[in-house]
Amino acid sequence: MSQTYLSLTVELPEEQSEAAQDLLHEAGAMGLEVRDREAPPMPGVRGPNPGEAILIAYFEEADTAEAARAQLAESLPDARLLLEEKPQQDWSNEWKALIKSVQVGRLWVGPPWEADAAPKDKVRLVIEPKMAFGTGDHPTTSLCLAAIDAYMGSHPGASVLDVGTGTGVLAIAARKLGASRVVGTDNDPTSVELAHENAAVNGTPELELSGKELTQVEGTFELVVANILANTLIALAPLIAPKVKDRLVLAGVLAPQKAEVEAAYRAHGLIPEAGAAQGEWVRLDFHR
Ligand SMILES: C[S@@+](CC[C@H](N)C(=O)[O-])C[C@H]1O[C@@H](n2cnc3c(N)ncnc32)[C@H](O)[C@@H]1O
Repeated sequence: MSQTYLSLTVELPEEQSEAAQDLLHEAGAMGLEVRDREAPPMPGVRGPNPGEAILIAYFEEADTAEAARAQLAESLPDARLLLEEKPQQDWSNEWKALIKSVQVGRLWVGPPWEADAAPKDKVRLVIEPKMAFGTGDHPTTSLCLAAIDAYMGSHPGASVLDVGTGTGVLAIAARKLGASRVVGTDNDPTSVELAHENAAVNGTPELELSGKELTQVEGTFELVVANILANTLIALAPLIAPKVKDRLVLAGVLAPQKAEVEAAYRAHGLIPEAGAAQGEWVRLDFHR
């Protein structure tokens, strides 16, 4: 295997994205990442400018990558192109060093290969890092875990709704800390599948995890948590707010976005409380 690979980053008007994707596939891209309005990047990853998309194509051979770059430059002159050589990494092992276990309140969350080292007095959640967000070590997840720990401590047996469940980490944590009914939803089918796997591994197969729209979820919940991006939280406010019986916890919000998200939920009758922050990320807490 070659010691390097090539990555071609393409930034272009969103309406040209599909044509560029076809072109990149035909030109021999081995893989393609798309960041646009439909597939916004995860928190912490650079997103496209408004009205634009970012495509990142991966190539094994420099000649193929250079030919693709030239072809794109000719066919789509508005596209901004950056071709870079990157060192090939042994992802099978190196990424493991990047996954850290975390302890939040009564909880320990970490990957299987660290589980034996988890302190015995902690409630242990094992999440194998795969294609869903939520291994516990992202600040937005930790902020939510802390809120769940505190709420379940003072409201044993509360019902919990986790919107944008990802790996299911928050839903599983709530159940392990004594929640009664726990529902998790996600609009990404892979996340729902992995959340089911994680629930089974962690001994909580009774969680109601699905890709249901919130309008399809029955009832209200004492605690609702949603760790999604700010623009999605604002769009979902009319659907999330009616589900809250007592407490709402929102994360995935950067400090400058806080006021706008807060206003969207105030408008639906929720009353802000002091939240929390970790680095650039804030958590917004509300009550009915
Ligand atoms: C930042 S991750 C949070 C995962 C996990 N709850 C955590 O705290 O680590 C956001 C999740 O929300 C999901 N999501 C994004 N938009 C959504 C929507 N409109 N409805 C439901 N889920 C959504 C994504 O697929 C992703 O799994």
